[in-house]
Order: sequence, then C-alpha cells, then structure tokens
Amino acid sequence: SKKPVRVAVTGAAGQIGYALLFRIASGEMLGKDQPVILQLLEVPVEKAQQALKGVMMELEDCAFPLLAGMEAHSDPMTAFKDTDYALLVGSRPRGPGMERAELLAINGAIFTAQGQALNAVASRDVKVLVVGNPANTNAYIAMKSAPDLKPGNFTAMLRLDHNRAASQIAAKTGKAVADIEQLCVWGNHSPTMYADYRFATINGESVKDMINDQDWNANVFLPTFGKRGAAIIEARGLSSAASAANAAIDHMRDWALGTNGKWVTMGIPSQGWYGIPKDVMFGFPVTCENGEYKVVEGLEIDEFSQACIAKTLKELTDEQAGVAHLV
Ligand code: NAI
Repeated sequence: SKKPVRVAVTGAAGQIGYALLFRIASGEMLGKDQPVILQLLEVPVEKAQQALKGVMMELEDCAFPLLAGMEAHSDPMTAFKDTDYALLVGSRPRGPGMERAELLAINGAIFTAQGQALNAVASRDVKVLVVGNPANTNAYIAMKSAPDLKPGNFTAMLRLDHNRAASQIAAKTGKAVADIEQLCVWGNHSPTMYADYRFATINGESVKDMINDQDWNANVFLPTFGKRGAAIIEARGLSSAASAANAAIDHMRDWALGTNGKWVTMGIPSQGWYGIPKDVMFGFPVTCENGEYKVVEGLEIDEFSQACIAKTLKELTDEQAGVAHLV
C-alpha cells in the first residue's frame, strides 16, 4: 500500500474545515488508495483548540481506513512540518465596516507567517491552495514569503466560481453539468472575476452558439455569477461552506491526479500569459497532468473579454500593491 502523505489544513475548526476534513480523510481528494495524515492548524485560542478537538473526535469516530494519523497544532511551524499539501482556509475575511487597510494588515500578518513557515518546514514540493479571503492576495503574500519554494506551487481557489458558472450554464442550456468542457474564469476571486463560456462546448456543440445572447451574458449571467457568494450569505446567514470545501477537494484532486484534458480554473502566479504581469495571482484556464498544471494558451481574447479581464486585473494589482510593503 502507498506511503501516507501529509495534508495540512488551517482554520480546521471552522465551517469549511467541517465540510472538508471528512472528505479528505475518506479519500475523495487524493484517491481511495492514498493514506493521509492530517496536520490541523487553529488559532491558539482555547475555544478554537477545544472545537478542533471535537472535530478530531468525530474524525476518529468515522474509522476512516485511509486516515493514518492526525495532529492538532496552534503554530504553523509545527503544523506545516514536511507537509505535502497545504490547504490554507483560515483567514480574516472582510467584516462589515472593516477598512481595506485593516483587512490587508491582518491577513498580511497571517499569510507572511504561514508562507515563512511553509518555506522553513514543508516538503520542497508542497502544493498550496489558499481558500481564505481575499484568496488571491493571501496566496500572493504566502508565495512571496516563501522564496525557497516553487512560486508556481502557490495557488488560489477559483474553483467554486468555476463550478458555479458551470452549474448556471447547465441550467440555462438544459444540459448536464458533467458534459460542459472548456469553461474558465479569469482573474480575482471577487465579483469582478470573468466567467468566460466563449470556448465552452457541450457534447462538441458551442455553448455560446447555443445561448446566442450577449445581453444575457453581460446583464444576467455575469452579475448573477458575480453575486452568488453574497446570495448564499443572504439566504443562509452564513457564507458558503460545503460548496467551498467541495471546490477545494476538486482543485487539489485535479492538480494531484490530473484532469484528463478537461479545463479547470486555478488561481496561479502568472508567467506573463495573456498579458497578465508576472506573479499576479490570477484565475486562468488550465489542464493538469502528472501533478502539474498547464495554462491553456493561445485563446483569442475579444474586446468584451479584454475589458472584463482588465477590470479584474486592475483590482488585483491594486490589492497586491497594497501589500507590497509586506512582501
Ligand atoms: P470560519 O470563520 O467558520 O472558520 C475560519 C476558521 O479559521 C476559524 O475557526 C478561525 O479560528 C480559523 N483561523 C483564523 N485565522 C487563523 C490562522 N491564522 N491560523 C489558523 N486558523 C485560523 O470561516 P469559513 O466559513 O470556514 O471560511 C474560511 C475562509 O474561506 C474565509 O476567509 C472565507 O471568506 C473563505 N472562503 C473562500 C471561498 C473561495 O471561493 N475562495 C469560498 C468561501 C469562503
């Protein structure tokens, strides 16, 4: 049987953690033949550590055959030791009335410390997924704080957005979500991101031709898609958790095990693709194979798409300029 791999998860006692850990331990992320050791990080606060203990008791009670070990931590320097995968879920999202500077300062502190800890103690091939918001900028800070690791191994989660777009398109066309290919979401995980179905197909047929309604795209689909996170909060009184955890599983599984040629969206540091400046943590269409992602290159960017991409890029470069003093 395979040697266990180490999976670190931060914010492990939070909402997303609760929807995520059981699926990692059951083999849904890395395969039904891959044992895992969970290295769980929570803030060094009695209540959070206590809640984490409770989650670990439940994990024990599942008797997962693939769960080869489990640790609770309050310090990233021990939590990330030798870790092969790191899912950085815990962060401080923007609260009501919170100033931008405050948000960036708090997350700057969290993600510089976590980047430095990964740099110091993680596996040299660690694959990092940042879920905690603002996800792209947090991933950028962590990457910049880990100069000895491969920058390309720091990624931000846009998969929930990708999955949301796929689901909306399935509903619009009346087709099965599983049959949608070549969809992508460009940019920042924020309402500015651009879901692009111009290249998408369903059973070989063009989705754009099927829908054939640019007014719907610009004035119904994109605004609904952009505000989906807010709509969930409005309905549930809490932000999306199970769907976010599901997207994190999808992102890591596809990165580790491959997509068989299917496009997915990952937030990754640009190498200059599509005119996005180097290192900007940007949502791109990728395929994955042998544990590596590869950007889908050479797509034509029309005027409408260019304007959408410029808008989300501007937001991201502004955010990243706001943390320049930290990195
Ligand atoms: P939550 O508040 O239920 O849980 C977050 C947990 O993280 C808490 O238990 C907290 O104690 C812990 N935490 C905070 N700072 C930490 C640190 N420095 N180290 C370790 N643990 C820390 O929040 P929830 O719902 O689980 O969401 C987590 C994050 O994911 C939020 O920032 C949220 O905005 C973001 N999110 C991102 C999505 C995406 O698509 N990228 C989608 C949905 C949520």
